[in-house]
Amino acid sequence: MESVKNRLDKNNIPKHVAVIMDGNGRWAEKHGKARVFGHENGVESVRSVVEGAGEIGVKYLTLYAFSTENWDRPKNEVDALMELLVKAIEMETESLNKNNVRLSTIGDINSMPTSVKENLENCINTLNSNTGLNLVIALSYSSKWEIVNAVKGIVKDAIENKIKPELINNELFENYLSTAKIPDPELLIRTSGEYRISNFLLWQIAYSELYFTEKLWPDYRKEDFFEAILDYQNRERRFGKTSEQLISQ
Ligand code: IPE
Ligand code: IPE
Ligand code: MG
Repeated sequence: MESVKNRLDKNNIPKHVAVIMDGNGRWAEKHGKARVFGHENGVESVRSVVEGAGEIGVKYLTLYAFSTENWDRPKNEVDALMELLVKAIEMETESLNKNNVRLSTIGDINSMPTSVKENLENCINTLNSNTGLNLVIALSYSSKWEIVNAVKGIVKDAIENKIKPELINNELFENYLSTAKIPDPELLIRTSGEYRISNFLLWQIAYSELYFTEKLWPDYRKEDFFEAILDYQNRERRFGKTSEQLISQ
């Protein structure tokens, strides 16, 4: 069957796509296995989507891998996820490098175990000079955490007279977010048939197109990703204007 990729408009590829990778636990349950089995099988989906994003020229791909709230899961699941992260980063570094991918993270990385932090640092350094897809992994991330953090930074700089409060605007605020210098995602995808944002990129998705799919994350592949891009390309992004205004522009 012909790939959806060939039907994509090469001139309208989103620069930044964000993904809430959800449904690992339900996928495992469906297969009569423990939740961790779902997380393990989600790694293949990450590999496929990262490849697909690179193939069509997406510049930034942000993956929600672990939220602030996920710390409240049973200890054995959190531990298994941390272990899996270490393994996956180690295993994938070489092929990411071959694919010219750069890596960065957003979130409270200091709260991650030392083994994860060290592995991440190694991987980030190895991929540092690559020029293709920028892969951004959200770890111990939540949007409210990020926004409160930004406010702290702004207040500190205001007290130290580095910024004038009357000059605070959207642009300045964005410089204090962990996504500073990364354009806002044009498209946000969530798998597993949940219709919520779960504390992800609240500021940055103010005008993003939202795409929901029933597929569980471990079943998700680049072909599904291309479907989402095609759907995105058929939308009219009006940014508050009227359709007529856009046509006459
Ligand atoms: C997403 O899958 C992965 C993480 C949140 C770490 P889930 O583990 O949330 O799977 P479901 O939603 O319970 O099926
Ligand atoms: C969101 O998924 C977080 C990640 C995908 C890492 P959750 O499964 O934790 O979200 P809720 O709790 O169902 O909203
Ligand atoms: Mg979930």
